[in-house]
Amino acid sequence: MKNIIFLLSLALLSCNQNKVTDENGVSTDPHSFSKPDQAIVKHLDLDLNVNFESKILTGKATWTIENHKGADSIIFDTQNLHVIRVTLSNGEKTGFSFGPEKKYLGSALKVGIKDSTKQVTIWYTTSPDASALQWLSPQQTAGKVYPFLFTQSEAILARSWIPCQDSPGIRFTYNATITVPSNLLALMSAENPQQINVKGVYHFKQPHAIPSYLMALAVGDLKFKAIDSRTGIYAEPIAIDKAVWEFADMGKMVTSAEKLYGPYRWGRYDVIVLPPSFPFGGMENPMLTFLTPTVTAGDRSLVSLIAHELAHSWSGNLVTNATWNDFWLNEGFTVYLERRIVEDIYGKDEAKMQEVLGYESLKETLQDLGVKSSDTRLKGDYEGRDPDEGMTDIAYEKGYFLLKTIENTVGRARMDGFLKDYFKNHSFQSATTEDFLSYLDSQLLKENVAWADQIKVKQWVYEPGIPLNFPSIGSAKYQAIDSLVSGWKGKIHPAGLKAKLRSANEQLYLIKVLPADLNAKDMAGIDKEFGFTKSGNAELNCAWYVLAIRHHYQAAYPAVENFLNHVGRRKFLIPLYKELATSAAGKEWAKKIYKKARPNYHSVSYNTIDNLLK
Ligand code: BES
Ligand code: ZN
Repeated sequence: MKNIIFLLSLALLSCNQNKVTDENGVSTDPHSFSKPDQAIVKHLDLDLNVNFESKILTGKATWTIENHKGADSIIFDTQNLHVIRVTLSNGEKTGFSFGPEKKYLGSALKVGIKDSTKQVTIWYTTSPDASALQWLSPQQTAGKVYPFLFTQSEAILARSWIPCQDSPGIRFTYNATITVPSNLLALMSAENPQQINVKGVYHFKQPHAIPSYLMALAVGDLKFKAIDSRTGIYAEPIAIDKAVWEFADMGKMVTSAEKLYGPYRWGRYDVIVLPPSFPFGGMENPMLTFLTPTVTAGDRSLVSLIAHELAHSWSGNLVTNATWNDFWLNEGFTVYLERRIVEDIYGKDEAKMQEVLGYESLKETLQDLGVKSSDTRLKGDYEGRDPDEGMTDIAYEKGYFLLKTIENTVGRARMDGFLKDYFKNHSFQSATTEDFLSYLDSQLLKENVAWADQIKVKQWVYEPGIPLNFPSIGSAKYQAIDSLVSGWKGKIHPAGLKAKLRSANEQLYLIKVLPADLNAKDMAGIDKEFGFTKSGNAELNCAWYVLAIRHHYQAAYPAVENFLNHVGRRKFLIPLYKELATSAAGKEWAKKIYKKARPNYHSVSYNTIDNLLK
């Protein structure tokens, strides 16, 4: 019976595999209305004017298209865009219509074209509450004098500021002209200016074909400082020096990644430090990673985040998940590359500690979702849902541990050669989970038949939970902390500990393994020793504030409130609001804070928290 069920599920899996590509081999993406097999975009000329008063972008998007099959229309994704008119190559007006508005997806924009149509120009404006855009008042910036605008397009928000075929399986090059108030600098995921231009008119060029989720724009009072000849930092003038010190290793990271995975294909690698409401730790916009200011902890303890975003220059930006159901190909690979870069620059101990922390979060995620939940499979199925729901540690950490399992089986040298070839072979293309699996089979596993049996890659990818061959991991430094804490036997002894546990990693781990039955007095003792409440490290703050709420450690409450008011990074907001919501009084307090803080958050953060507190 078991065998029959197994065979049946294999048959189902192979049906499922056909679903991701149409008869032309173009991936069919459940999160885009576009029909690339009929007419597909190849290049974008974007011309936008940024108006901070009305919080609106106005201008036009000219798409160079290919219409091989003589389709009479081309379909774009849009969300809350107001289209004024659409013209074809020769300037002649053409008809357009919108499909019904769908939750998360927005609505399809259908534009009439002819066999001969090479270009389509869409004249449009965005809406003031466009989901990708966050318009900040001067008060919400570090400098407090100028307003700020930034975009966040991943996963499917690009359509709220550009009418586009918003699927990660479709790539295009772009040029852009962006007009902004004259004292502000504009930057994009492209070749960027390093200085203010008095007219406020900036030109951009992205010569490599990228998917729409990597379209990005930031506008503000920004300054540039170089790290070395190909890496540098943009930040508000008041924040730049701190960032330059914090990210001094950026150049080394690029060199290390190149040594491991082949040449960096994008020209420059710069980062921009955004105001604190940026909803993520980082976003891998090509040539210009967007970063939360919470990485500038003051002690370089969080720079692995740069290694992560940089690693996406290979896994994600060079080889891209074909649909959001293949998201683990972007993030699982990137976590693997990130830890390899960290190991290369900061050593094995550091990489091992990060791996153990990753495993701890994976366990929590598995517990939250339930080990039998289909959302714990690497290959996701987010059709009919917001692909944001797939942004869990399954993609990141289960994905990482699969690659680690392959490395453990075939050895590091073969693994490195395989990955380098994989990136080279698929560069500037998208890949489905199945593309990866067949490449793995044909390039690596064929060498030794026993390897496939040992790795059980299909089980990792298509079955829930974590497989039995999950690698064993550990960190000597963390084991020391485990024994220390278990030695306390009911009464904690924090005095003098800080001298032993000096790194942020060790302190973070300590917070995670503290006994469950602490009281407020214990918390005060620990805080006296480590100063977690006032730490400048947002990872420590967040982990500590969760405990502060749980154990009613009131001395930290003002700091908790202050953190929630200022930091917009969703990863920190969710556990804090969740913990608050576990008691009636906590929930009341959370609602009070949220009322004031919500205007400081980006839509990806407030949409999640709206659901949590409702
Ligand atoms: N690409 C992601 C951010 C993302 C994922 C945005 C899905 C929207 C939808 C980015 O590379 C990322 O993983 N950021 C992490 C950083 C971390 C894992 C080092 C973050 O923001 O926490
Ligand atoms: Zn990532």
